[in-house]
Amino acid sequence: MSWTKVLAADQLPTGKREVVKVGERNILLLNHEGQIYAVARRCPHMNIKMTRGKITEDGTIVCPMHRSSFDLKTGCVKEWTPFPPVVGKMIGKLSPEKPLPVFPIKVEEGSIWVDA
Ligand code: FES
Repeated sequence: MSWTKVLAADQLPTGKREVVKVGERNILLLNHEGQIYAVARRCPHMNIKMTRGKITEDGTIVCPMHRSSFDLKTGCVKEWTPFPPVVGKMIGKLSPEKPLPVFPIKVEEGSIWVDA
């Protein structure tokens, strides 16, 4: 892994999201309440785009499909496939829980850098 400059910091104000490419990876950058996070663009469950995933007040991103939720800082699973009720849990049992990949970021020289 190595640091890559991906975006001017002023292009990602609070509440904004951007997808950037680092090597072969598509990374979702988001600014949640002034804190910048870099996570995999696709859900580790069934590869659905997380771009429109809901962000909760406690720093969790929720997949729009089966609503698995992941800690934005660590990528750890908070809940695995709770939706739709009953069926979601059955679907989730078919594949083991996997964290959402997260990547270190830094802001230097007016730019956002990702270590991916
Ligand atoms: S695709 Fe994200 S939880 Fe199923």
